[in-house]
Amino acid sequence: MVATGRRALWSLCVCFAALHTNALRVTMRVSTVEVVRGDFVILPCSFYTSSPLSRLNIIWTLAPLSSPESPIQVIVYDHGQIIEDPSLIGRVGFTGIPWSADIMVNDTRVSDAGIYRCMVNNPPEMADPGIGELLLTVLVAPSLPACQWEGDMDAGGSVTLSCSVAEGIPTPEIHWDKIKPEEISLPINMDGELSGSVQIANVSSQTSGLYRCSASNLLGTENCYINLSIHSEVGESSSGILQGVLLTLAMSLMLLSLLVLVIWLHQTGQDGRRRVSKMEEEEEEGYNEIQYTPSLMKRSFV
Ligand SMILES: *[C@@H]1O[C@H](CO)[C@@H](O)[C@H](O)[C@H]1NC(C)=O
Ligand SMILES: *[C@@H]1O[C@H](CO)[C@@H](O)[C@H](O)[C@H]1NC(C)=O
Ligand SMILES: *[C@@H]1O[C@H](CO)[C@@H](O)[C@H](O)[C@H]1NC(C)=O
Repeated sequence: MVATGRRALWSLCVCFAALHTNALRVTMRVSTVEVVRGDFVILPCSFYTSSPLSRLNIIWTLAPLSSPESPIQVIVYDHGQIIEDPSLIGRVGFTGIPWSADIMVNDTRVSDAGIYRCMVNNPPEMADPGIGELLLTVLVAPSLPACQWEGDMDAGGSVTLSCSVAEGIPTPEIHWDKIKPEEISLPINMDGELSGSVQIANVSSQTSGLYRCSASNLLGTENCYINLSIHSEVGESSSGILQGVLLTLAMSLMLLSLLVLVIWLHQTGQDGRRRVSKMEEEEEEGYNEIQYTPSLMKRSFV
């Protein structure tokens, strides 16, 4: 009884020792990998095993950054067969199967980012541990930001400059600067992560100039510009007054000439009528003369 018990214990110990020295081990050579969107990336995963590789099984999973709670099976190697996730077909492959579990992802997308797990099994060997993890970050340069302004460009008004960038990983930093006539950094209000605005109250002619919004991350910087020209109070009102004065003057001149014309017409009309009546009188007189003339002539003839 005791002897058999001892033997069992002994064999158990041997077994554990064997497991400890010969267990399959997975090691990740790096824990984070960065790639620029569109480039290819190699995700390394090494394993050490002493058993034949005929029953080797490798599974790569991804917990995407956008939805970590629903992981996908990126690629599986099982008994010499390879199965890829539909979303990665043609873009993912093993680089050194069966000696290494490294994979390559081509034409990387933002959706490829997340935590990758490499699980290796090689029965009957036990795995200790059989799992390795790494974080893949997909970097994206800032897109061209959009600059906009709204408000009152007249002196004394207030103007808001706003700038928004559509994408960029890591999140681009947004800055507003006035760059002409002299360079000044402006205080910015962030409206969310990807847009920032600057408010300028009581604008004056000094507010005029060239403004730049820049969106930058470690991959680069993109700029957009706004050219503000504030309608100067003095210039506008004086030219306005001048225009008003000129207009009034022209109108008065026209009215005056119209008045003169009316008066002249009225007077010439009266003169005419007077002249006409005079003529009528004269004619009447003449008629009378003529009327009388025959009688006079008659008289003279007589
Ligand atoms: C990735 O692209 C390289 C070069 O274009 C090609 O040799 C390789 O087979 C591609 N890998 C996959 C998994 O499509
Ligand atoms: C606006 O600016 C002008 C000149 O820059 C100044 O005289 C005036 O007091 C300012 N008004 C306000 C409300 O700040
Ligand atoms: C900005 O506007 C002013 C006046 O409208 C003009 O003279 C200047 O050339 C413009 N500058 C740029 C960079 O567009």
